[in-house]
Amino acid sequence: MKKIAVFTSGGDSPGMNACLRAVVRTAIFRELEVYGVYRGYEGMIDGDIKRMYTHSVSNIVQRGGTILKSARSKEFMTPAGRKKAYENLAKHGIEGIVAIGGDGTFTGAKIFFEEYGIPTVGCPGTIDNDIYGTDYTIGFDTAVNTALAAIDKIRDTAASHDRIFFIEVMGRDAGFIGVECGIGGGAEFVMVPETKTDLDSVVKDLKNLRKTKTSSVIVVAEGDDAGSADVIMEKVKTKLNDNTKEFKVTTLGHIQRGGNPTARDRVLASRCGMAAVDGLLAGKQNCMAGVTNQEVVYTPFQDCIGKEKPIIPDHLELIKVLSI
Ligand code: F6P
Repeated sequence: MKKIAVFTSGGDSPGMNACLRAVVRTAIFRELEVYGVYRGYEGMIDGDIKRMYTHSVSNIVQRGGTILKSARSKEFMTPAGRKKAYENLAKHGIEGIVAIGGDGTFTGAKIFFEEYGIPTVGCPGTIDNDIYGTDYTIGFDTAVNTALAAIDKIRDTAASHDRIFFIEVMGRDAGFIGVECGIGGGAEFVMVPETKTDLDSVVKDLKNLRKTKTSSVIVVAEGDDAGSADVIMEKVKTKLNDNTKEFKVTTLGHIQRGGNPTARDRVLASRCGMAAVDGLLAGKQNCMAGVTNQEVVYTPFQDCIGKEKPIIPDHLELIKVLSI
């Protein structure tokens, strides 16, 4: 193998740049030519592909976002789109691919590999942490810390005004951010997509808590089955029959996707990036390089996207016990 390509795709995550840097520098160290594909699968289809050098990734290990840019491509979901992408890679003589992204990225990579056979290794880049085959994904730690910093501030004002805050964090299909923010932020309740939210029991507990606590923080993952934080707040207010203005909603939104990656994310990103290139050179394909129990492991894309990564049940119990 002499030439490889690397791209970032899907929702960006802090640490993608550190991962890209590791891919580019490892490739060059191992005497490969490396090409950056801009805007994920969109750029592959458009032929937006450029050679990268050691200096192309200088001074980015600490930066959030992705210098290669990212996109969610509809066209790549079609055979015609993938054919164009293949032809562009073939023009550059690409023999291996590193795909940095989440489940959508790996779903595309798996289909592309099955159709065109270019060996591909993925790196888990998403704030959601919802990828099987790695204990943590690149960007998750930073996103949790960003959300926590905001929750700490909200707690100050919630306590000063005796208010109940519903704070919505990201996680369309996964509650990892919600759970860690709940534990770290001392939330009274956490609502996540993995468990059914019973608002009647929340209201009952809230009534009890109000005997001893004057303010509460409720963390809602955006994909919760009871609705968005706005909707849940209105339902709880109605059930409590409380018409005061002491119920507030804050949606943290995309602030969670930006910012300088934490040390944990930079280290994880660097390890996965190097492991992806070394994996390709060792003949790995159609799989992701992740880290579990401190060790680099390669997991088939099939499992990364197909197997469930459950939230740790102890964590929900922890939040319940510590919220009294
Ligand atoms: O997958 C990462 C993520 O940030 C999710 O938590 C969130 O639901 C989604 O992306 C938002 O996507 P977009 O930035 O395209 O609106």
